[in-house]
Amino acid sequence: MASLKGKVALITGASSGIGAAVARHFASLGCYLSLTGRNEERLNGVGKDCQQWGLQADQILLQTGEMSSDADLERIVLETVERFGRLDVLVNNAGIAKLRNLERSTMEIFDITMDVNVRAVFHLTKLASPHLIKTKGTIVNVSSVVSKVPSCNTFYSMSRYMVDQLTTNTAVELAPYGVRVNSVWYVRSANADIH
Ligand SMILES: NC(=O)c1ccc[n+]([C@@H]2O[C@H](COP(=O)([O-])OP(=O)(O)OC[C@H]3O[C@@H](n4cnc5c(N)ncnc54)[C@H](OP(=O)(O)O)[C@@H]3O)[C@@H](O)[C@H]2O)c1
Repeated sequence: MASLKGKVALITGASSGIGAAVARHFASLGCYLSLTGRNEERLNGVGKDCQQWGLQADQILLQTGEMSSDADLERIVLETVERFGRLDVLVNNAGIAKLRNLERSTMEIFDITMDVNVRAVFHLTKLASPHLIKTKGTIVNVSSVVSKVPSCNTFYSMSRYMVDQLTTNTAVELAPYGVRVNSVWYVRSANADIH
């Protein structure tokens, strides 16, 4: 893998879990970070961790924002590019994993899951693409193994299947510009907490 030192990564959902872990790892590699989440206190904590991993305060941009808000997504990308002057990596990690079978599903949870897990990923891809074309950058979409196998968490699985389709289609569309698009799957261990 090419060095991430001095590159700029925008990581959504960086205030906890996988996104926070990716942020800390990228910080250890010297990658400048634009981090988003809703919980400001936890986001600030991850920002401090990233300084302990070697980044200066001005190499980290922390922005709270709601993934279902078009205005927030536009601001997040704009301020990232204004601060750092470039964008090399977009990690679409923020997601809702409300595990529900048909009986326990509600249309409200369906809608917010699609807004955050699918619509926001498409919108951020669209907003970031012109900047990633300039740097021949990369997009990493955090998907799930349930995009491919039945899980009885129907709409969450649907949302991940749509992200995989977004990934392969944008990979083909952006390849001529030197931009790579991949999705990664995270498989929960059998004894992990369900949330
Ligand atoms: N953990 C797993 O087993 C697993 C398995 C497969 C795939 N995944 C996927 O991996 C990604 C991260 O999972 P995780 O386990 O690390 O989850 P997590 O700990 O719950 O973190 C989710 C992140 O997304 C942010 N987020 C959620 N809804 C948001 C919204 N409406 N607007 C803005 N930010 C929002 C959260 O921000 P706040 O906390 O600040 O609100 C948080 O930073 C998700 O896309 C998930 O679907 C996880």
